[in-house]
Amino acid sequence: MKINKPNLSVTIAGVKFKNPVIAASGCFGYGQEYAEIFDINKLGGFVVKGISLKPQQGNKTPRIVETPSGMLNAIGLQNVGLEVFIKEKLPFLKKLDTNVIVNIYGKKIEEYAELAEKISGEKGISFLEVNISCPNVEKGGMAFGHDPEVVYKLVKEVKKRSKIPVIVKLSPNTDKITEIAKSAEDAGADAVSLINTILGMAIDIEKRKPVLANITGGLSGPAIKPVALRMVWQVAQTVKIPVIGMGGITDCSGALEFIIAGAAAVQVGTANFINPLVTLEVIEGIGSYLKKHKLRNISSLTIQKTA
Ligand SMILES: Cc1cc2nc3c(=O)[nH]c(=O)nc-3n(C[C@H](O)[C@H](O)[C@H](O)COP(=O)(O)O)c2cc1C
Repeated sequence: MKINKPNLSVTIAGVKFKNPVIAASGCFGYGQEYAEIFDINKLGGFVVKGISLKPQQGNKTPRIVETPSGMLNAIGLQNVGLEVFIKEKLPFLKKLDTNVIVNIYGKKIEEYAELAEKISGEKGISFLEVNISCPNVEKGGMAFGHDPEVVYKLVKEVKKRSKIPVIVKLSPNTDKITEIAKSAEDAGADAVSLINTILGMAIDIEKRKPVLANITGGLSGPAIKPVALRMVWQVAQTVKIPVIGMGGITDCSGALEFIIAGAAAVQVGTANFINPLVTLEVIEGIGSYLKKHKLRNISSLTIQKTA
């Protein structure tokens, strides 16, 4: 059997993606920056930097530090805010022929719900991705994503107000990853994506002080891949909704590991900073792999559920 052109497309919550490769939030700007480097319509999709109701300046510097096989960031969710996003960023995004996913975050459940209503009312956006790795001011600053009950409430409110499908982006900084994924599914999430960054820290031994002004930061890049893969596997075994896997993917074999573990699609984050063309290389590599192994489509790769 000869497969000339394997079918790379995947469908998530009724939305078709040309291929399963999506650029991750915070690592692909608002799309326009990368459109100057390559044709971003070749991607399955991309996620814009997390948007909040009001603009955010982010944390004090230094807010990035390189670590072995990764980086720590404490950007502090700096963004232009909803109004500027709709006025200045969205007109460009509306013209694209790829899936635009808008990442949102708030400090209260009502802020998430308001963002969902306002953003999903705009044309040209395929999905909302809800970042639940942020402090909940109504619960003493504990991140939304660590409490299954809070996640249920948050997702329920967002789903009530959103006119487009909702991906819930899970935090890895918990020992309840499967419970939290199930809460999101029970509240009506159309898909889950994971993982966000892992909480970490670096010390400057000469100054005898933390390197980051924020003290702690989120670890991303190849260093987190085994943890991310384990969590994607566990979640894929638990929920019926599609799982989008990410964490440390730098090449096609990394992406394939996530897909084989149960991910319907993958996101690539930090690797874009090292090689802005990495997403294209991953797409090409997946195509060659399918061809080499005489597989017709992406779904034939995934290991079946054990239960
Ligand atoms: C500089 C930077 C900024 C990020 N900003 C966001 C963000 O705004 N919202 C979000 O949900 N995740 C954000 N992330 C997390 C990434 O989207 C991704 O979940 C994480 O980095 C793991 O994937 P990677 O190892 O491929 O980078 C950010 C990551 C980095 C490195």
